[in-house]
Amino acid sequence: MRQHIESGAHAAPGAVPPWDPVVRLTHWSLAAAVLANALLTKPGATIHVWIGWAAMAVLALRLLWGVIGPREARFASFLPDPRGALSHLVDLLRGRPQDHASHNPAGALMAYALWACLAVVIGTGLVMTDGKSPLTISEENAAVAAGDWSVLVAKDRADDHDDEGAGEIAEEVHEVVANLMLILAVIHVAGVAVESRALGRNLVRGMVAGRRR
Ligand code: HEM
Ligand code: HEM
Repeated sequence: MRQHIESGAHAAPGAVPPWDPVVRLTHWSLAAAVLANALLTKPGATIHVWIGWAAMAVLALRLLWGVIGPREARFASFLPDPRGALSHLVDLLRGRPQDHASHNPAGALMAYALWACLAVVIGTGLVMTDGKSPLTISEENAAVAAGDWSVLVAKDRADDHDDEGAGEIAEEVHEVVANLMLILAVIHVAGVAVESRALGRNLVRGMVAGRRR
């Protein structure tokens, strides 16, 4: 079946492969982590940092999978192609989008944009927390709760030496890019709905159950 699938090519009828379990698992875990941290957890709380670190591991797995995974999961099958994305959108507006073996070029750009936003949000999160693991943060919080203020004093001193501006910029970028990512996610879901309608097949089912037809 794989031999029908060409890089970025239109899918031959019946030859559309399922999304493999790693793509499906990483997709839904990243979506859940982003939504939880953007909408549910207290910003900066230990659980927020735990979820952020988990998202970092999952993102790393998906990026590795983009190099070593099956063909339709590999970046080579959905390289960034802005012209292709534009013509796909024009075709979609006309109600005649072409089917693709991997992500369509517009969906591919969106996937890269979402991953890039997530990487920036994680990176700025690490800057704000001085790269401390959530385990260290919860131990420090427990120490403070037990009356040991030396942790806070040490942190205060470190902040004094720190380039304060960098922390503030990281915080600002973290917030702005997290919100941008949410806006992109809404457009992404709308795109999935419109594309599913135009193609006459439910793309969400493919991401849930692995069946794309
Ligand atoms: C914050 C939330 C979300 C993020 C960050 C996100 C991100 C992504 C990314 C990065 C991809 C590419 C997948 C890969 O190659 O590994 C993708 C694909 C996909 N997403 Fe999401 N997503 C989110 C929410 C959703 C939701 C709520 C739905 C369903 C309603 C959905 C449905 C899909 C589908 C169906 C695809 C595959 C499209 C195709 O067949 O080409 N996503 N998403
Ligand atoms: C999964 C992706 C993440 C999302 C969507 C996210 C989202 C957010 C949002 C919306 C805020 C509130 C910003 C504000 O109003 O100032 C916030 C704050 C914060 N986030 Fe994240 N975050 C994520 C990952 C992380 C990670 C990985 C870390 C640390 C390693 C982190 C650490 C923090 C901290 C310390 C704050 C508090 C900033 C302050 O002092 O106001 N976040 N995050």
